[in-house]
Amino acid sequence: MSNGTREKWSGGIGFTLAAVGSAVGLGNMWRFSYMAAENGGAAFVILYVLLTLLVGLPVMLAELTLGRGAGRSPVQALIHYGGRAWAPLGGLFVLAGFVILAYYGVLAGWTVRYAVEAVVWGFPADAGAHFGAISEGHGAAAWHLAFMALTIFVVSGGVKNGIERVSLALMPVLGVLVVGLALYAATLDGAVDGYRYYFTTEFAAILNPDVLRDAAGQAFFSLSLGMGAILTYASYLSRERDLPREAVLIASSDFAVAFIAGLVVFPLVFALGLQEQVGASTLGALFVTLPQAFADMGGTGRVIGALFMVALAVGALTSAISLLEVVVASAIDTFAMPRVRAAWLLGGAIALLGLVAAYDIGMLDLMDKIGGNLLLVLGGFSLSIFAGWVLGPELLDEVHPDGRQRLALRLWLVMLRFVVPAILAVVLVYSAADAWSAVAARWFGEG
Ligand code: TRP
Repeated sequence: MSNGTREKWSGGIGFTLAAVGSAVGLGNMWRFSYMAAENGGAAFVILYVLLTLLVGLPVMLAELTLGRGAGRSPVQALIHYGGRAWAPLGGLFVLAGFVILAYYGVLAGWTVRYAVEAVVWGFPADAGAHFGAISEGHGAAAWHLAFMALTIFVVSGGVKNGIERVSLALMPVLGVLVVGLALYAATLDGAVDGYRYYFTTEFAAILNPDVLRDAAGQAFFSLSLGMGAILTYASYLSRERDLPREAVLIASSDFAVAFIAGLVVFPLVFALGLQEQVGASTLGALFVTLPQAFADMGGTGRVIGALFMVALAVGALTSAISLLEVVVASAIDTFAMPRVRAAWLLGGAIALLGLVAAYDIGMLDLMDKIGGNLLLVLGGFSLSIFAGWVLGPELLDEVHPDGRQRLALRLWLVMLRFVVPAILAVVLVYSAADAWSAVAARWFGEG
Protein backbone atom coordinates (compact mmCIF):
# COMPACT_ATOMS: atom_id res chain seq x y z
CA MET A 1 0.00 0.00 0.00
CA SER A 2 2.57 2.54 1.03
CA ASN A 3 4.95 3.31 -1.74
CA GLY A 4 8.46 2.00 -1.39
CA THR A 5 10.35 5.24 -1.81
CA ARG A 6 8.64 7.03 1.06
CA GLU A 7 10.94 7.96 3.90
CA LYS A 8 10.68 6.03 7.17
CA TRP A 9 11.78 6.57 10.76
CA SER A 10 14.96 4.67 11.43
CA GLY A 11 13.33 2.31 13.95
CA GLY A 12 14.21 2.44 17.65
CA ILE A 13 12.74 5.27 19.65
CA GLY A 14 13.02 7.92 16.92
CA PHE A 15 9.32 7.88 16.12
CA THR A 16 8.23 7.87 19.74
CA LEU A 17 10.46 10.80 20.64
CA ALA A 18 9.33 12.75 17.59
CA ALA A 19 5.68 12.16 18.47
CA VAL A 20 6.30 13.07 22.09
CA GLY A 21 8.17 16.10 20.78
CA SER A 22 5.09 17.07 18.80
CA ALA A 23 2.84 16.65 21.82
CA VAL A 24 5.09 18.30 24.40
CA GLY A 25 5.33 22.00 23.75
CA LEU A 26 4.00 25.37 24.74
CA GLY A 27 0.71 23.58 25.29
CA ASN A 28 2.16 21.73 28.26
CA MET A 29 4.17 24.43 29.90
CA TRP A 30 2.21 27.55 29.04
CA ARG A 31 -1.34 26.69 28.00
CA PHE A 32 -1.86 23.95 30.59
CA SER A 33 -0.90 26.01 33.66
CA TYR A 34 -2.83 29.01 32.46
CA MET A 35 -5.90 26.93 31.69
CA ALA A 36 -5.68 25.16 35.04
CA ALA A 37 -5.35 28.49 36.86
CA GLU A 38 -8.28 29.93 34.95
CA ASN A 39 -10.58 26.93 35.30
CA GLY A 40 -10.46 26.00 38.96
CA GLY A 41 -7.17 24.11 39.41
CA ALA A 42 -7.69 20.44 40.16
CA ALA A 43 -11.21 20.39 38.68
CA PHE A 44 -9.63 21.21 35.35
CA VAL A 45 -6.84 18.69 35.82
CA ILE A 46 -9.27 15.88 36.66
CA LEU A 47 -11.50 16.66 33.72
CA TYR A 48 -8.45 16.89 31.52
CA VAL A 49 -7.26 13.42 32.54
CA LEU A 50 -10.73 11.96 31.98
CA LEU A 51 -10.96 13.50 28.54
CA THR A 52 -7.48 12.32 27.65
CA LEU A 53 -8.50 8.75 28.49
CA LEU A 54 -12.00 8.77 27.01
CA VAL A 55 -11.41 10.91 23.94
CA GLY A 56 -7.70 11.60 23.47
CA LEU A 57 -6.43 8.02 23.49
CA PRO A 58 -9.09 6.65 21.10
CA VAL A 59 -8.52 9.49 18.63
CA MET A 60 -4.77 9.15 18.92
CA LEU A 61 -4.97 5.43 18.11
CA ALA A 62 -7.23 6.23 15.16
CA GLU A 63 -4.70 8.74 13.80
CA LEU A 64 -1.83 6.30 14.29
CA THR A 65 -3.75 3.51 12.58
CA LEU A 66 -4.95 5.55 9.60
CA GLY A 67 -1.54 7.10 9.09
CA ARG A 68 0.44 3.90 9.18
CA GLY A 69 -2.18 1.98 7.22
CA ALA A 70 -2.27 4.46 4.35
CA GLY A 71 1.39 5.48 4.44
CA ARG A 72 0.36 8.91 3.17
CA SER A 73 -0.25 12.45 4.32
CA PRO A 74 -3.67 13.22 5.84
CA VAL A 75 -5.40 14.43 2.67
CA GLN A 76 -4.28 11.38 0.69
CA ALA A 77 -4.89 8.99 3.59
CA LEU A 78 -8.51 10.13 3.86
CA ILE A 79 -8.99 9.79 0.10
CA HIS A 80 -7.34 6.38 0.21
CA TYR A 81 -9.72 5.06 2.85
CA GLY A 82 -12.87 7.04 2.22
CA GLY A 83 -12.77 8.32 -1.34
CA ARG A 84 -12.78 11.87 -2.67
CA ALA A 85 -15.74 12.88 -0.53
CA TRP A 86 -13.42 12.93 2.50
CA ALA A 87 -10.77 15.16 0.95
CA PRO A 88 -12.29 18.30 2.54
CA LEU A 89 -11.57 16.89 6.00
CA GLY A 90 -7.92 16.68 4.94
CA GLY A 91 -8.24 20.28 3.81
CA LEU A 92 -9.54 21.22 7.25
CA PHE A 93 -6.45 19.59 8.80
CA VAL A 94 -4.13 21.58 6.60
CA LEU A 95 -6.04 24.77 7.39
CA ALA A 96 -5.77 24.07 11.12
CA GLY A 97 -2.04 23.53 10.67
CA PHE A 98 -1.75 26.90 8.95
CA VAL A 99 -3.65 28.80 11.63
CA ILE A 100 -2.08 27.10 14.64
CA LEU A 101 1.51 27.29 13.43
CA ALA A 102 1.04 30.94 12.46
CA TYR A 103 0.37 32.10 16.02
CA TYR A 104 2.41 29.31 17.62
CA GLY A 105 5.44 30.79 15.86
CA VAL A 106 4.80 34.12 17.56
CA LEU A 107 4.55 32.55 21.02
CA ALA A 108 7.67 30.53 20.29
CA GLY A 109 9.40 33.71 19.17
CA TRP A 110 8.71 35.33 22.57
CA THR A 111 10.07 32.19 24.23
CA VAL A 112 13.29 32.07 22.26
CA ARG A 113 13.79 35.77 22.87
CA TYR A 114 13.37 35.31 26.62
CA ALA A 115 15.83 32.41 26.55
CA VAL A 116 18.46 34.43 24.68
CA GLU A 117 17.94 37.57 26.77
CA ALA A 118 18.10 35.58 30.00
CA VAL A 119 21.50 34.27 29.07
CA VAL A 120 22.86 37.57 27.77
CA TRP A 121 21.30 40.15 30.12
CA GLY A 122 19.15 38.39 32.71
CA PHE A 123 15.50 39.17 33.33
CA PRO A 124 14.40 42.83 33.40
CA ALA A 125 13.05 44.10 36.74
CA ASP A 126 9.66 45.08 35.36
CA ALA A 127 8.48 41.96 33.55
CA GLY A 128 5.08 43.38 32.69
CA ALA A 129 6.51 46.41 30.90
CA HIS A 130 9.04 44.23 29.11
CA PHE A 131 6.37 41.84 27.93
CA GLY A 132 4.27 44.76 26.72
CA ALA A 133 7.24 45.95 24.71
CA ILE A 134 8.17 42.64 23.08
CA SER A 135 4.83 40.86 22.62
CA GLU A 136 3.61 42.98 19.72
CA GLY A 137 5.24 44.85 16.87
CA HIS A 138 8.48 44.61 14.89
CA GLY A 139 10.35 42.76 17.63
CA ALA A 140 7.70 40.07 17.94
CA ALA A 141 7.61 39.79 14.16
CA ALA A 142 11.38 39.44 13.84
CA TRP A 143 11.71 36.71 16.47
CA HIS A 144 8.71 34.90 15.01
CA LEU A 145 10.30 34.94 11.55
CA ALA A 146 13.60 33.68 12.94
CA PHE A 147 11.86 30.84 14.75
CA MET A 148 9.91 29.93 11.61
CA ALA A 149 13.12 29.85 9.58
CA LEU A 150 14.60 27.37 12.05
CA THR A 151 11.46 25.23 11.89
CA ILE A 152 11.48 25.27 8.09
CA PHE A 153 15.16 24.38 8.06
CA VAL A 154 14.58 21.24 10.19
CA VAL A 155 11.55 20.11 8.18
CA SER A 156 13.36 20.60 4.90
CA GLY A 157 16.00 18.17 6.20
CA GLY A 158 13.44 15.35 5.98
CA VAL A 159 12.00 12.77 8.33
CA LYS A 160 15.15 10.95 9.34
CA ASN A 161 17.82 13.61 8.97
CA GLY A 162 15.70 16.52 10.10
CA ILE A 163 12.82 15.69 12.40
CA GLU A 164 14.11 12.49 13.95
CA ARG A 165 17.61 13.79 14.55
CA VAL A 166 16.42 16.94 16.26
CA SER A 167 13.95 15.00 18.43
CA LEU A 168 16.56 12.46 19.51
CA ALA A 169 18.94 15.21 20.51
CA LEU A 170 16.52 17.58 22.19
CA MET A 171 13.74 15.61 23.89
CA PRO A 172 15.98 14.03 26.55
CA VAL A 173 17.33 17.51 27.33
CA LEU A 174 13.81 18.79 27.82
CA GLY A 175 12.89 15.89 30.10
CA VAL A 176 15.93 16.39 32.32
CA LEU A 177 15.36 20.15 32.52
CA VAL A 178 11.70 19.90 33.49
CA VAL A 179 12.28 17.30 36.20
CA GLY A 180 15.29 19.20 37.52
CA LEU A 181 13.30 22.42 37.69
CA ALA A 182 10.46 20.72 39.56
CA LEU A 183 12.92 19.35 42.11
CA TYR A 184 14.40 22.79 42.55
CA ALA A 185 10.95 24.37 42.89
CA ALA A 186 10.12 21.91 45.67
CA THR A 187 12.88 23.42 47.81
CA LEU A 188 11.41 26.95 47.69
CA ASP A 189 9.54 28.50 50.60
CA GLY A 190 5.97 28.76 49.46
CA ALA A 191 6.19 25.57 47.39
CA VAL A 192 3.50 24.04 49.59
CA ASP A 193 1.15 26.96 48.98
CA GLY A 194 1.75 26.56 45.28
CA TYR A 195 0.88 22.85 45.42
CA ARG A 196 -2.17 23.63 47.49
CA TYR A 197 -3.39 26.09 44.89
CA TYR A 198 -2.73 23.55 42.13
CA PHE A 199 -4.52 20.68 43.87
CA THR A 200 -7.49 22.20 45.64
CA THR A 201 -10.56 23.33 43.84
CA GLU A 202 -14.21 24.07 43.91
CA PHE A 203 -15.53 20.85 42.43
CA ALA A 204 -18.51 22.65 40.97
CA ALA A 205 -16.17 23.74 38.18
CA ILE A 206 -16.30 20.19 36.81
CA LEU A 207 -19.92 20.75 35.85
CA ASN A 208 -19.22 24.04 34.15
CA PRO A 209 -19.46 23.67 30.34
CA ASP A 210 -16.75 26.30 29.82
CA VAL A 211 -14.34 24.19 31.82
CA LEU A 212 -15.35 21.15 29.79
CA ARG A 213 -14.76 23.07 26.57
CA ASP A 214 -11.34 24.27 27.65
CA ALA A 215 -10.28 20.87 28.99
CA ALA A 216 -11.30 19.12 25.76
CA GLY A 217 -9.67 21.75 23.58
CA GLN A 218 -6.55 21.56 25.70
CA ALA A 219 -6.44 17.75 25.49
CA PHE A 220 -6.52 17.94 21.69
CA PHE A 221 -4.03 20.76 21.52
CA SER A 222 -1.60 19.20 23.94
CA LEU A 223 -1.75 15.74 22.37
CA SER A 224 -1.42 17.25 18.87
CA LEU A 225 -4.70 15.63 17.83
CA GLY A 226 -7.47 16.63 15.49
CA MET A 227 -5.43 17.88 12.54
CA GLY A 228 -3.47 14.90 11.33
CA ALA A 229 -0.10 15.63 12.93
CA ILE A 230 0.09 12.24 14.63
CA LEU A 231 -1.39 10.70 11.49
CA THR A 232 1.39 12.22 9.39
CA TYR A 233 4.14 11.03 11.74
CA ALA A 234 2.59 7.54 11.79
CA SER A 235 2.64 7.45 7.99
CA TYR A 236 6.43 7.07 8.19
CA LEU A 237 6.12 4.13 10.58
CA SER A 238 6.79 0.49 9.81
CA ARG A 239 4.30 -2.33 10.18
CA GLU A 240 5.76 -3.99 13.27
CA ARG A 241 5.04 -1.17 15.69
CA ASP A 242 2.52 -1.87 18.45
CA LEU A 243 0.26 1.14 17.99
CA PRO A 244 -1.82 0.95 21.20
CA ARG A 245 1.42 0.89 23.14
CA GLU A 246 2.73 3.94 21.27
CA ALA A 247 -0.53 5.80 21.92
CA VAL A 248 -0.30 5.17 25.66
CA LEU A 249 3.38 6.10 25.70
CA ILE A 250 2.84 9.39 23.87
CA ALA A 251 -0.22 10.41 25.90
CA SER A 252 1.33 9.57 29.26
CA SER A 253 4.60 11.37 28.49
CA ASP A 254 2.60 14.38 27.41
CA PHE A 255 0.55 14.42 30.57
CA ALA A 256 3.63 13.86 32.71
CA VAL A 257 5.38 16.92 31.29
CA ALA A 258 2.27 19.11 31.64
CA PHE A 259 1.74 17.95 35.20
CA ILE A 260 5.39 18.40 36.19
CA ALA A 261 5.45 21.83 34.55
CA GLY A 262 2.62 22.76 36.93
CA LEU A 263 4.86 21.61 39.78
CA VAL A 264 7.42 24.13 38.55
CA VAL A 265 5.12 27.04 37.78
CA PHE A 266 2.90 27.19 40.86
CA PRO A 267 5.59 26.94 43.56
CA LEU A 268 7.66 29.60 41.79
CA VAL A 269 4.70 31.94 41.57
CA PHE A 270 3.76 31.45 45.22
CA ALA A 271 7.32 31.62 46.52
CA LEU A 272 7.62 35.08 45.01
CA GLY A 273 4.14 36.15 46.12
CA LEU A 274 2.88 36.68 42.59
CA GLN A 275 -0.31 34.62 42.91
CA GLU A 276 -2.65 37.57 42.27
CA GLN A 277 -1.22 37.85 38.80
CA VAL A 278 -2.10 34.24 38.04
CA GLY A 279 -5.63 34.70 39.30
CA ALA A 280 -6.04 37.46 36.72
CA SER A 281 -4.88 34.96 34.18
CA THR A 282 -4.73 35.82 30.54
CA LEU A 283 -2.91 34.40 27.63
CA GLY A 284 0.25 36.31 28.47
CA ALA A 285 0.27 35.40 32.17
CA LEU A 286 3.04 32.86 32.07
CA PHE A 287 5.14 35.23 29.99
CA VAL A 288 4.82 37.94 32.62
CA THR A 289 4.48 36.18 35.97
CA LEU A 290 7.31 33.70 35.56
CA PRO A 291 9.87 36.20 34.22
CA GLN A 292 8.87 38.45 37.14
CA ALA A 293 9.53 35.57 39.52
CA PHE A 294 12.92 34.94 37.89
CA ALA A 295 13.80 38.64 38.03
CA ASP A 296 12.86 38.85 41.73
CA MET A 297 15.03 35.82 42.50
CA GLY A 298 18.24 37.57 41.43
CA GLY A 299 21.23 35.51 40.27
CA THR A 300 19.65 32.11 40.89
CA GLY A 301 16.56 33.27 39.06
CA ARG A 302 18.63 34.07 36.03
CA VAL A 303 20.04 30.55 35.83
CA ILE A 304 16.74 28.84 36.65
CA GLY A 305 14.85 31.15 34.31
CA ALA A 306 17.24 30.59 31.45
CA LEU A 307 16.93 26.81 31.87
CA PHE A 308 13.14 27.07 31.98
CA MET A 309 13.00 29.19 28.84
CA VAL A 310 15.38 26.85 27.02
CA ALA A 311 13.14 23.88 27.88
CA LEU A 312 10.14 25.83 26.67
CA ALA A 313 11.87 26.79 23.42
CA VAL A 314 12.92 23.18 22.78
CA GLY A 315 9.34 22.02 23.27
CA ALA A 316 8.10 24.74 20.96
CA LEU A 317 10.52 23.80 18.18
CA THR A 318 9.74 20.07 18.13
CA SER A 319 6.01 20.91 18.13
CA ALA A 320 6.22 23.52 15.39
CA ILE A 321 8.09 21.00 13.27
CA SER A 322 5.16 18.59 13.44
CA LEU A 323 2.67 21.30 12.54
CA LEU A 324 4.67 22.25 9.47
CA GLU A 325 5.20 18.62 8.51
CA VAL A 326 1.44 18.10 8.08
CA VAL A 327 1.27 20.90 5.54
CA VAL A 328 4.51 19.98 3.81
CA ALA A 329 3.71 16.25 3.60
CA SER A 330 0.35 17.09 2.05
CA ALA A 331 2.00 19.22 -0.62
CA ILE A 332 4.62 16.55 -1.33
CA ASP A 333 1.97 13.83 -1.71
CA THR A 334 -0.61 15.86 -3.58
CA PHE A 335 1.46 18.03 -5.91
CA ALA A 336 4.64 15.96 -6.02
CA MET A 337 6.45 19.06 -4.77
CA PRO A 338 10.07 18.55 -3.68
CA ARG A 339 10.37 18.67 0.11
CA VAL A 340 12.73 21.60 0.38
CA ARG A 341 10.61 23.77 -1.88
CA ALA A 342 7.39 22.78 -0.08
CA ALA A 343 8.93 23.57 3.31
CA TRP A 344 10.13 27.06 2.34
CA LEU A 345 7.10 27.97 0.27
CA LEU A 346 4.41 26.84 2.70
CA GLY A 347 6.41 27.58 5.82
CA GLY A 348 6.97 31.05 4.39
CA ALA A 349 3.25 31.53 3.79
CA ILE A 350 2.50 30.46 7.37
CA ALA A 351 5.17 32.82 8.68
CA LEU A 352 3.49 35.67 6.80
CA LEU A 353 0.10 34.78 8.26
CA GLY A 354 1.74 34.80 11.68
CA LEU A 355 2.63 38.46 11.23
CA VAL A 356 -1.04 39.21 11.85
CA ALA A 357 -0.66 37.75 15.36
CA ALA A 358 2.77 39.34 15.86
CA TYR A 359 1.37 42.82 15.36
CA ASP A 360 -1.89 42.27 17.22
CA ILE A 361 -2.12 40.14 20.35
CA GLY A 362 -5.93 40.16 20.15
CA MET A 363 -5.66 38.33 16.84
CA LEU A 364 -3.30 35.85 18.45
CA ASP A 365 -5.91 35.07 21.09
CA LEU A 366 -8.59 34.75 18.43
CA MET A 367 -6.48 32.42 16.28
CA ASP A 368 -5.95 30.24 19.35
CA LYS A 369 -9.69 30.06 20.00
CA ILE A 370 -10.46 29.19 16.39
CA GLY A 371 -7.43 27.09 15.41
CA GLY A 372 -6.28 25.74 18.74
CA ASN A 373 -9.73 24.89 20.02
CA LEU A 374 -12.61 24.88 17.53
CA LEU A 375 -10.86 23.43 14.46
CA LEU A 376 -9.19 20.68 16.50
CA VAL A 377 -12.42 19.62 18.17
CA LEU A 378 -14.17 19.68 14.81
CA GLY A 379 -11.34 17.66 13.29
CA GLY A 380 -11.42 15.12 16.12
CA PHE A 381 -15.18 14.78 15.87
CA SER A 382 -15.07 14.21 12.10
CA LEU A 383 -12.18 11.81 12.40
CA SER A 384 -13.99 9.67 14.98
CA ILE A 385 -17.04 9.46 12.70
CA PHE A 386 -14.80 8.56 9.79
CA ALA A 387 -12.81 5.92 11.64
CA GLY A 388 -15.71 4.53 13.66
CA TRP A 389 -18.51 4.53 11.10
CA VAL A 390 -17.03 4.77 7.62
CA LEU A 391 -14.23 2.31 8.25
CA GLY A 392 -15.54 0.50 11.29
CA PRO A 393 -14.31 -3.07 11.79
CA GLU A 394 -11.95 -2.72 8.83
CA LEU A 395 -9.95 -0.41 11.05
CA LEU A 396 -9.30 -3.17 13.57
CA ASP A 397 -7.27 -5.21 11.10
CA GLU A 398 -5.00 -2.25 10.50
CA VAL A 399 -3.98 -2.02 14.15
CA HIS A 400 -2.82 -5.57 14.58
CA PRO A 401 -2.93 -7.45 11.29
CA ASP A 402 -2.54 -10.71 13.27
CA GLY A 403 -5.77 -10.18 15.18
CA ARG A 404 -4.22 -9.68 18.60
CA GLN A 405 -6.08 -7.98 21.49
CA ARG A 406 -9.43 -8.39 19.82
CA LEU A 407 -11.53 -7.53 22.84
CA ALA A 408 -9.76 -4.33 23.79
CA LEU A 409 -9.87 -3.21 20.19
CA ARG A 410 -13.61 -3.81 20.01
CA LEU A 411 -14.00 -1.58 23.03
CA TRP A 412 -11.93 1.04 21.21
CA LEU A 413 -14.29 0.88 18.25
CA VAL A 414 -17.28 1.37 20.53
CA MET A 415 -15.55 4.43 22.03
CA LEU A 416 -14.86 5.86 18.58
CA ARG A 417 -18.41 5.28 17.44
CA PHE A 418 -20.36 6.49 20.44
CA VAL A 419 -18.44 7.98 23.33
CA VAL A 420 -16.02 10.21 21.43
CA PRO A 421 -18.55 11.78 19.02
CA ALA A 422 -21.10 12.28 21.80
CA ILE A 423 -18.66 14.12 24.06
CA LEU A 424 -17.17 16.10 21.20
CA ALA A 425 -20.58 17.11 19.83
CA VAL A 426 -21.34 18.80 23.14
CA VAL A 427 -17.90 20.39 23.29
CA LEU A 428 -18.24 21.55 19.69
CA VAL A 429 -21.33 23.58 20.47
CA TYR A 430 -19.55 25.43 23.27
CA SER A 431 -16.34 25.86 21.26
CA ALA A 432 -18.25 27.30 18.33
CA ALA A 433 -20.17 29.66 20.61
CA ASP A 434 -16.94 30.78 22.27
CA ALA A 435 -15.13 31.33 18.98
CA TRP A 436 -18.15 33.16 17.60
CA SER A 437 -18.45 35.52 20.55
CA ALA A 438 -14.72 36.27 20.27
CA VAL A 439 -15.16 37.08 16.59
CA ALA A 440 -18.28 39.14 17.27
CA ALA A 441 -16.56 41.05 20.06
CA ARG A 442 -13.76 41.93 17.72
CA TRP A 443 -15.60 42.91 14.58
CA PHE A 444 -18.94 44.10 15.83
CA GLY A 445 -17.75 45.50 19.13
CA GLU A 446 -19.97 43.37 21.34
CA GLY A 447 -19.06 40.60 23.71
N1 TRP B 1 0.98 19.75 21.07
C1 TRP B 1 1.75 20.93 20.92
C2 TRP B 1 1.83 21.64 22.25
O1 TRP B 1 1.31 21.16 23.21
C3 TRP B 1 1.25 21.84 19.85
C4 TRP B 1 1.04 21.11 18.59
C5 TRP B 1 1.96 20.53 17.83
C6 TRP B 1 -0.17 20.78 18.02
N2 TRP B 1 1.39 19.88 16.78
C7 TRP B 1 0.08 20.03 16.88
C8 TRP B 1 -1.44 21.07 18.38
C9 TRP B 1 -0.93 19.55 16.12
C10 TRP B 1 -2.46 20.61 17.60
C11 TRP B 1 -2.22 19.83 16.49
O2 TRP B 1 2.40 22.68 22.35
